[in-house]
Amino acid sequence: MTDIQELLLSRIRDVADYPEPGVMFKDITPLLADPAAFTALTDALAEVATNTGATKVVGLEARGFILGAPVAVRAGLGFIPVRKAGKLPGATLAQAYDLEYGSAEIEVHAEDLSADDRILIIDDVLATGGTAEASIRLIRRAGAEVAGLAVLMELGFLGGRARLEPALKGAPLEAVLAL
Ligand code: PRP
Ligand code: MG
Repeated sequence: MTDIQELLLSRIRDVADYPEPGVMFKDITPLLADPAAFTALTDALAEVATNTGATKVVGLEARGFILGAPVAVRAGLGFIPVRKAGKLPGATLAQAYDLEYGSAEIEVHAEDLSADDRILIIDDVLATGGTAEASIRLIRRAGAEVAGLAVLMELGFLGGRARLEPALKGAPLEAVLAL
């Protein structure tokens, strides 16, 4: 593990039984509150944006906004929010996805994405991959290309990487921390 990975890991707090019994929540607020850690993470993700040739960064509401927006600025790229349904005022494309119980829907402003765009998707955690998979579908349906998916941490035991492989079609999945 690199020094940066050790720093980032030390700033992620495990919270047992949140938001429900049996779940170990990964709280990134200590990392966000530490400027050295937040800057190191932003730099690492911005390097992924540059290396993948991304033209824009998509952040997934809500924690993907916090991580993705500074990455876009650092990499000199535009930022596009993918929001939970009902929050965007313009013409949107929507994509539903299944949760453990029930389903959810995300949306993007269709005009923000074009056929010329290569999108790096950013989120904090890759767990089952449901959220990321829906965002990949949404971006493709909007006509743009997916340059890659980058997350702070991947929870390997939940199998998100294998689930996303077909959707990514060879685009890279970069996890700063594999847990
Ligand atoms: C969490 C997390 C990821 C997603 C990962 O978001 O931030 O976006 O779940 O889970 P998955 O891989 O199983 O889809 P959540 O919507 O719970 O909360 P947030 O709005 O705080 O980001
Ligand atoms: Mg989230």
